[in-house]
Amino acid sequence: MTDRKARVASWTRKAVARLKPYYKAPLAGDPLRLDQNTTLFGNNPALAKVRTTDLDLTQYPTRDSDALRLALADFHGLPEDRFVCGNGGDELLDILCKAFGEDGATIATPWPSYSLYPHVAQVAGLRFHPVPTKRGFAQLDVDGMLAAKPRLAVVASPNNPTGTRFATGEIERLAEGLDGVLVVDEAYIEYAGLKHSFLPRLDAFDNVVVLRTFSKAYGLAGLRVGYLAANEELARMLNAAKAPFNVGVLPEALAIAALDEQEWVDAGVKAVRQERDRMAAALAKRGLKVHPSEANFLLTEPPAGASETADLLRRNGILARTFTDAALQRCLRFTVGKPEHTDRVLQALEAMR
Ligand SMILES: Cc1ncc(COP(=O)(O)O)c(C=O)c1O
Repeated sequence: MTDRKARVASWTRKAVARLKPYYKAPLAGDPLRLDQNTTLFGNNPALAKVRTTDLDLTQYPTRDSDALRLALADFHGLPEDRFVCGNGGDELLDILCKAFGEDGATIATPWPSYSLYPHVAQVAGLRFHPVPTKRGFAQLDVDGMLAAKPRLAVVASPNNPTGTRFATGEIERLAEGLDGVLVVDEAYIEYAGLKHSFLPRLDAFDNVVVLRTFSKAYGLAGLRVGYLAANEELARMLNAAKAPFNVGVLPEALAIAALDEQEWVDAGVKAVRQERDRMAAALAKRGLKVHPSEANFLLTEPPAGASETADLLRRNGILARTFTDAALQRCLRFTVGKPEHTDRVLQALEAMR
């Protein structure tokens, strides 16, 4: 067996052999999932409206999800050739790294941020360059990002796991100064009260890509559909780089139907924004430091320690997100759901007093 391990390692690219597996949630006991920033408001009504028997699954989907791109074009008011669809935003991040990251080139991101960025970068053979945020987690270090001379810069805004939305002017300054591609990852943008944000102005930039997902405000994390929007040349390059047929017929149909459920999306976003304020105040009252958030989660620093608090919550059937990264060791992140979910957390925390 050891021999096999060594042989497999000898065939594997060094960067991949060194990879630590991505976070896997401990799911024993079917806990309340407050660890993955997904909706706690039930299934998107689109699910009940798509008649699966009307779909033809004997054939592949179109190569580049043409029907979904048309629906996205209609929704955002952009031509359809500005869109690239993927198996979740995560696949699109992978494609971006492969398309624009020459072996050994640098990818820079403000740090802390989404822990998948270093993972996909490492798999693609890129050098990962984290640039610490300024004023706590609040501000982008644009000059620090530019000094890294990255081929690819990725800025999540609102950022995960901090919840910060970076100033548009700073993001634009970064785009303008960069000789490379800037990905603005807007996975959580709906929770900041915005629907189109950067998208209407994409044609003004040679180098900006905006990433979106159906996994958060659309409540469809299990569907695995995301998309990006960019100018026509970037989109053409990325559609060429991706695998054909990468979004299935069924997920594509559901994603299109979900775009018609804006009232449901808006109601969920409104409820989260309300509860976010209440939860932040209640946690702060119990002594946790709570970082300001424009997303559907709160990053906190519990006085009793992050892992101790996470353990206590787990014993009470609640999963919150801990981190191994040095910048986040004191931090525990909670998804914001309904008042009853917050109340369960508050009750469990009472036991620590
Ligand atoms: C910042 C950020 N970007 C992108 C994603 C990707 O989401 P998905 O692959 O589900 O579309 C996530 C998911 O948690 C995220 O937090």
